[in-house]
Amino acid sequence: MAAAASTDTENPLTAGLERLPVAPTTLVIFGATGDLAKRKLLPALYNLAHEGALPERFHLIGVSRKGKEHEDFRAECEEAIRRFSRRKPDDSVLASLLETVKYIAGTFDDDAVYAALGQELDGFEKEAGEPLNRAFYLSTAPQFFPVIVDALGGNQLDHHEDAQVRVIIEKPFGTTLEEARELNRRVLATFDETQVFRIDHYLGKETVQNMMAFRFANGMFEPLWNRNYIDSVQITAAEEIGIGSRADYYDAAGALRDLIQNHMLQLLCHVAMEPPVSFTAEGVRNEKVKVLQAIPQLSAADIPGMAVRAQYGPGHAGGEDVPGYLEEEGVPEGSITETYAALRLEVDNWRWAGVPFYLRTGKRLARKVTEIAVTLKPVPHLAFSQHGSLGVQPNQLVLTLQPNEGVSLRLGAKIPGTRMIIRPVNMEFLYGTAFLSQSPEAYERLITDAMRGDATLFTRNDEVEAQWRICDPIVKYWASDLDPTHPPAHPGPPDPGPTHPVLPKYEAGSQGPREAEGLLREGDRWRAI
Ligand code: BG6
Repeated sequence: MAAAASTDTENPLTAGLERLPVAPTTLVIFGATGDLAKRKLLPALYNLAHEGALPERFHLIGVSRKGKEHEDFRAECEEAIRRFSRRKPDDSVLASLLETVKYIAGTFDDDAVYAALGQELDGFEKEAGEPLNRAFYLSTAPQFFPVIVDALGGNQLDHHEDAQVRVIIEKPFGTTLEEARELNRRVLATFDETQVFRIDHYLGKETVQNMMAFRFANGMFEPLWNRNYIDSVQITAAEEIGIGSRADYYDAAGALRDLIQNHMLQLLCHVAMEPPVSFTAEGVRNEKVKVLQAIPQLSAADIPGMAVRAQYGPGHAGGEDVPGYLEEEGVPEGSITETYAALRLEVDNWRWAGVPFYLRTGKRLARKVTEIAVTLKPVPHLAFSQHGSLGVQPNQLVLTLQPNEGVSLRLGAKIPGTRMIIRPVNMEFLYGTAFLSQSPEAYERLITDAMRGDATLFTRNDEVEAQWRICDPIVKYWASDLDPTHPPAHPGPPDPGPTHPVLPKYEAGSQGPREAEGLLREGDRWRAI
């Protein structure tokens, strides 16, 4: 690889940070011509190359169904990087990254593909005169995950005498608990768990990792971090965008599977986990699994009061009039897929018993915001009430993941003047301002960690199953006759009215459905999006 570009201005706060070494590796991307590869993986590789964070010897092989030559694929990679990279590419770094890129065309169950892959991998090693680690990135439609894993095993590509072989698996990891278990069984029949890296890109986000620094590197918060001081936790992942061209995937998934089962439960785990003994893959993941296990499964009787779903109708978002979900291209007529989901969960353990954890996510909401808001209990006594202690609100700590990464703490402060009138003010910390640098994209961190064999920021087999254990009853309930929004299994004579009159709707660009209010404990409120 060519030397990294040295055009970035030195930042005194981050200077001197040493890059963790990555052993020589060949990365193979299955589904290399897909959207994720173009938008995220290739730009991430470029940015790693730009920063000198790729190993000295690094090769890339793309595998996909479409027939094309190595050169065509290289040109496509270049185009994708130029279009989607977070920084303007430096020509020489880009040329050096793409110089040896190879492409293999074929279907994922075809042994000829794996024979060709084996040859390319061996060819790179011969050239290098040393064994190279291998990382297989499965960025395909999920039905191909087990097919590729089986084929890698069947073609003896799952191990190497003298180098590490790893497999990186994209989401969704199953669409039900049963499917996740089956996929784990298939994957672990070929690979050892230490070779498997299940991606949840939220874990690669700086602010999510900073949750751990925030909680466990500051003595100030941890003593308060429990049911004695914390009143409620609210986690929001709101998006302004609709489903774009992803109707095929999205209509089968819905908001609960798309974001809550993975990203949002991970955020919850970071808030609720016990301090790990060490920041190691097993240490951290053991604690997260304990949190997930402490969340009681919702029964059919509980679900209507603890889970709300809804679908967006037409409205105004991002400065333009936008269609409703049912009018989006590719959405089946009368679809009852939820584009919004909100839950009230409890973490039934010593630390958190009785504290509601509110989770909500949706497409086409008022704006993009991902945040964790921790509200403390009100003070027990207002000493200055006779002076009109107007506006006193409980402290609230808000960790914003996007768009402006940072932390803000709501405090009560006296308004200057002769009367004792209090109003809430915010104490803010913003990443961009404090560190003067752009945070790396989540995939940059995750690809490096997978190549280094560090699984701390990846979901373990029991963890992904524990996430599904929580979501499965809700998915099933929403798909069953028990749910009043679902059409009867044996419909009677055609109903002239709308097919699903009770599936809650919300206007695109709004705060979401009114029904979500019903999940809140008395006195609690959703934060404005
Ligand atoms: C993906 C979901 O996992 O996360 C998308 O499939 C969603 O539907 C995306 O838009 C959100 O990620 P981010 O990083 O933009 O918050």
